[in-house]
Amino acid sequence: MTDIDDLRAQALAAIERAGDLEELDEARVRFVGRRSELVAAQRSLKDLPAEQRKERGRQLNELRGELERVVEQRHEVLAAAALQARLEEERLDLTLPPRRLPPGRPHLLTQVEQEIVDVFVGLGYRVAEGPEAEAGAYNFDLLNIPPDHPARAEMDTIYVSGYDDVVLRTHTSPVQTRVLTTQAPPVAVVVPGRVYRADTVDATHSPVFTQVEGLLVDTGITMAHLRGTLLELSRSLFGADREIRLRPSFFPFTEPSAEVDVSCGFCEAGTVHGAQAGVDGQAPVCRVCSGTGWIEILGAGMVDPNVLEFCGVDSRAHSGFAFGIGIERVAMLRNGVADIRDFYDADVRFLARF
Ligand code: PHE
Repeated sequence: MTDIDDLRAQALAAIERAGDLEELDEARVRFVGRRSELVAAQRSLKDLPAEQRKERGRQLNELRGELERVVEQRHEVLAAAALQARLEEERLDLTLPPRRLPPGRPHLLTQVEQEIVDVFVGLGYRVAEGPEAEAGAYNFDLLNIPPDHPARAEMDTIYVSGYDDVVLRTHTSPVQTRVLTTQAPPVAVVVPGRVYRADTVDATHSPVFTQVEGLLVDTGITMAHLRGTLLELSRSLFGADREIRLRPSFFPFTEPSAEVDVSCGFCEAGTVHGAQAGVDGQAPVCRVCSGTGWIEILGAGMVDPNVLEFCGVDSRAHSGFAFGIGIERVAMLRNGVADIRDFYDADVRFLARF
């Protein structure tokens, strides 16, 4: 028969020896588990004569209670130690200096585009967009550029092969006709986007470039509204002291049409403007404006009544203006970038300047 004192001594020693929770659990299973000697002894109590059964039953019960308490106490001690060890091991040294990641920033073209869009959003315009692979109908026909019109050739259109009438849009103006065919006036939209022309790459030409288009159609819109709007844009892009001038021009989708110049603020001290420029070989001529005092920055005009009618807008009741501005050109002028290719070369030394 199991000697209770002996069993007690063995069990207490094993529990005391347990160095971690796993070893403690082994000791628990071994001494108070379902298949332990102690539980077996309790089970065989029924085989004892009644007068022994009571006293031995009490002793075994007491031992079991004691061992369970001791296991629990030891468990607390070991669990606390385990937690402490883990905290030590997973300690983070918050005093280490951080690894520095240089902050990124938007590309210069994105910055300029965003600035222009912000000006117009501030004036109550909404941003509109259209696809870069565009139906000829939106890019040309609805813009009053019929199939045989020389403007199609002038724009050096890139056609999408395998499709009947799909081009890479040559300007952002097709979004004008997309908006006008789906929204009733008043409309005021600003349209940033990429455009394509089959141009040979040089310092000022790229077959892919970026424009922002503006379109306002309402009742009673005049060229004075256009002029005031473009003056606001020019001053926010180039400086509050700038002036603009409109020169007569031609676009099939606007009538009248204008090229818009901004006054030159780049002339260095000593350069001469206008009629005096270069005369007598005296003063150096400003390279940005070639001494004229004006820099061409965009094309604009009053939306041609044909375009309104093609798009389902009553041209007797409505009028509007539109303009298109080249982002690369603005960025080159404003930030002194001499070669358009710099925008696309992804040379960090260039990009990090802006
Ligand atoms: N779409 C013209 C271009 O790309 C610019 C323009 C837009 C002119 C809107 C007038 C009105 O050259």
